[in-house]
Amino acid sequence: MKISNICCIGAGYVGGPTMAVIALKCPEIKVTVVDKSEEKINLWNSKDLTKIPVFEPGLNEIVQKVRGKNLFFSNDISSSIDEAEIIFIAVNTPTKKSGRGKGMAADLSNVIASAKEIAKFSKSDKIVVEKSTLPVRTAEKLKEVLSLTNKKVKFEVLSNPEFLAEGTAIQDLFKSDRVLIGGEQTKKGQLAVNSLVEIYKKWIPINKILTTNIWSSELSKLVSNAMLAQRISSINSLSAMCEKTGADINEISKAVGMDSKIGPYFLNSSVGFGGSCFQKDILNLVYLAKFYGLDEVAEYWHQVIKMNNYQKERFALNIIKLINNNEHSVSVSILGWAFKKNTNDSRESASIYVTDILLKNEIFVNVYDPMVPRDNIISDLINLWSSQELSTAKTENLLGRLNIENNYVDAIKGSSLSAILTEWDEFKDCDWESLVKSMKSPSIVYDGRNILPKQDKKINHIKLGVTHNL
Ligand code: NAD
Ligand code: UGA
Repeated sequence: MKISNICCIGAGYVGGPTMAVIALKCPEIKVTVVDKSEEKINLWNSKDLTKIPVFEPGLNEIVQKVRGKNLFFSNDISSSIDEAEIIFIAVNTPTKKSGRGKGMAADLSNVIASAKEIAKFSKSDKIVVEKSTLPVRTAEKLKEVLSLTNKKVKFEVLSNPEFLAEGTAIQDLFKSDRVLIGGEQTKKGQLAVNSLVEIYKKWIPINKILTTNIWSSELSKLVSNAMLAQRISSINSLSAMCEKTGADINEISKAVGMDSKIGPYFLNSSVGFGGSCFQKDILNLVYLAKFYGLDEVAEYWHQVIKMNNYQKERFALNIIKLINNNEHSVSVSILGWAFKKNTNDSRESASIYVTDILLKNEIFVNVYDPMVPRDNIISDLINLWSSQELSTAKTENLLGRLNIENNYVDAIKGSSLSAILTEWDEFKDCDWESLVKSMKSPSIVYDGRNILPKQDKKINHIKLGVTHNL
């Protein structure tokens, strides 16, 4: 089937950039992105492109080119669904907060709600594409919801997981390592797969478009994220060993990564991985393994999360040890709130957990991030504390020790230790020698990302995964 109209449900970090790129590469296709949040759609339609809700290098330029031509952001969910031949579901699938699978399984309520909307508003046959990351065998459930809600229309469900990383989303979408499309092994299923292949073929070489059965596609996405996160937890576990033994984790990463069987990627030791997906997808994998009675498999993958939590906590406790917190009103600056550079996303960022521990240890914290707005920083902490059922009085007490600055100079001034938690270039390039002069003793720069070029003798510079003698 030749496609001329696409709808995407979910205008977030995936829906927005992926649809912008499809619109750019396929000018003959009308692409409409809808969302249940009217406010978000209005922001996507902002004249001022700095206001669009996702910050990604290169995204504004694309939106400027195609918005209003063949890319539309709309609140009219019903007609956008009805007019489309293909509907992508790119809604959020967070970890469940209640009910069966609480704290582990993926919450599919947004996906099911989207399927019901699709079924309700469709007057002709549709191809429904799972773009969200989903547990293996979700397509079965989706098909059931679609066909039970609307018996007049035929739905073909495909799995087309997204592999973009935030901060590099546009380049990842332009030059994907692979595009994965899973479909039913029936004639209609394969026709639907081919329709989607035809779209990606416009800019992705055909040998990078992989078609599989639908369950392999769904599970490959969880496995990819689990394997990436596993490498980070592996290297982070060894950063602790380096600090005890005199080995240097950066030298280890390089030496190990040069083995072509291992490869150099995802071996940067850090204060712990963040982002909305690694933790939730691994927990989901753990839940699925348990569901299928594979307890050893579940425990194996769960360890990746446990190690990540250990690393975040270890970093915070190291800060407390380093500043030897025995005087009143000692303060620490947290440089970077986003979970990685070049994004305004702070979901599950290590900064949230490190700051939580510091504040609870009576330490004053000055935060600075170039992209994450002040309100998001505060709501990240409030959300964590409400999940811990902290009282309002305790929350206010903790917030009383939090200070958010608009630049790193002010954040660093007067603090005893500056901790780099996000690898923003500006922290790498700034003049640390003069900045430490504005700090209080012991004026430590604790590099949780190992971005400062070398062990600078002129500053008290401590690297993660390197023995220090302070
Ligand atoms: P997001 O929270 O940024 O965006 C999801 C959007 O869906 C929100 O704007 C929300 O309002 C909207 N939505 C939810 N239910 C809806 C409904 N019933 N009708 C209309 N709109 C609805 O999420 P995201 O980061 O874009 O992630 C989406 C999915 O893609 C998740 O499953 C995630 O695991 C996966 N994924 C994310 C990334 C990433 O880098 N963020 C990368 C690959 C895959
Ligand atoms: C990750 C995957 O890389 C994408 O392929 C996937 O599509 C996406 O998750 C998803 O499903 O959401 P993302 O989370 O955006 O992308 O960013 P990454 O570059 O993978 O970084 C994740 C976290 O790991 C960040 O906190 C980052 O700083 C950290 N990290 C990464 C390290 O600590 N060390 C590394 O060597 C690499």
